[in-house]
Formats: sequence, C-alpha cells, structure tokens
Amino acid sequence: MRHDTIEKSLNLMMVLIVVAISIGGLVEIVPLMMSSDATEPDEGIEVYSPLRLAGRDVYVREGCYNCHSQMIRPFRSETERYGPFTTAGETVYDRPFQFGSKRTGPDLARVGGRYSDEWHRLHLMDPRALVPESNMPSYTWLAEREVDGDLVTAKLEVLRLLGDPYTDEQIAGAAGEVAGRTELDALVAYLQGLGTNRRNRR
Ligand code: HEC
Repeated sequence: MRHDTIEKSLNLMMVLIVVAISIGGLVEIVPLMMSSDATEPDEGIEVYSPLRLAGRDVYVREGCYNCHSQMIRPFRSETERYGPFTTAGETVYDRPFQFGSKRTGPDLARVGGRYSDEWHRLHLMDPRALVPESNMPSYTWLAEREVDGDLVTAKLEVLRLLGDPYTDEQIAGAAGEVAGRTELDALVAYLQGLGTNRRNRR
C-alpha cells in the first residue's frame, strides 16, 4: 500500500510533512501579506517619537510582555474592559509586535491616558505602593539610567531603512528630544502613547 511506503520511509515522510505544513502556512500567511489592512497603518497611526521608541525598547528589554499582552481580542468581555479591539494596522510600526500571550497583569494596548504620568512613575518604582496586592516587580533602576541619544538616532535610521516614514528633521532632532531623559521617562511616555493615536478610539 502507498501509505505503508510513506510511513516506512522516514525521509519521504519528513518531506511530505513539510509540504503539507507549508501549504497550510501559505494559505494563512500570503493573503495577509497582500491585504492593506495588515500592511498599511490605520488612519492616525504614526511612527514612534524618539522618546517613545526608547521607552518601547525598555519595555522589550525588561520583559514586560511576559505579564502583559497588547492585544485586545474582539470579544465583548475584552472590549468592555480594555476598549476597542486591536487591529493589525495599528501595529505596523511595532518591531517586533508586542501582542504577547500572557496576562498576569492587564492588557496594556489602551492604557495611554488612563493614569497620570506621576501614577506610572510611582507604579513602576513601587507597584505595591499603589496596588497593595500587585505582584508586579519594581523597576527602580530605570530612574537612574539615561537614554542614549546616539543609539536612538541610529535606531531611527535603521527603521527608516526598513520603511518607517521618519523625516530628516525627526532623525536630526532625536538626540535632542531624549537628552537628559531617563529610561523611566521614556517608558512612561511609551505607556502614555499606547492606544491614543487611533482615530476611532472611544
Ligand atoms: C510578574 C508579572 C509582571 C511584570 C513582569 C510586569 N507587570 Fe505590570 N502589572 C502586573 C500586574 C499583576 C498588574 C496589576 C496590578 C498593578 O496594577 O500593579 C500590573 C499592572 C500594570 C499597569 C497598570 C495597568 C492597568 O490598566 O491598571 C501597567 C501600566 C504596567 N503593569 C506596566 C508594566 C511595565 C511597563 C512592565 C515592565 C517594565 C510591567 N508592567 C511588568 C504584573 C506584571
């Protein structure tokens, strides 16, 4: 039987498995690559400012995504709690995206503007001062580290190479915008921007 031949030949079986999985993958992935919904920014979505970009990288470095998602699913229970569901077009400038899959803490996709800057600063320094039952770690060192202006400039240049529409003025002004700012300032700026530049926000 033909099936026997396949099951008894390891190499043939591996090749056929790869072929089968590739077809499944391509059917899912290729249409998305063609769809402007997934590749073009939604109305109102702009590239990260230098300070927010620096904050985003602190977010990634500190592993905030291990406890926080940034993807609101299109279910009533989620949209009631967090706000409008996440679209692909609002994450086009996220490299890598921060959808996450673990929610020890709440989703952060729409946290911008929900609290004051001061609340965030205190919360990141000492979460239990504000939420006694919190198990979020404190990130005290962020207040002592300054953002590196040259590094931010280099990042903007690379992102422009990859297609993000940064202007010459934005790149020239990047080091100035982050001068003297700490990683805590940058992270708070990032958090305060989350979800705020969507046109159809509520
Ligand atoms: C060990 C898991 C864990 C990690 C890691 C973690 N958090 Fe949290 N976070 C929580 C929990 C639990 C809460 C809810 C209680 C509270 O507000 O402290 C929370 C709450 C928050 C809130 C308030 C959200 C809201 O809607 O009320 C923000 C903002 C936040 N975290 C940001 C961050 C940032 C930024 C980082 C990385 C520097 C981070 N968290 C890392 C667990 C975590």
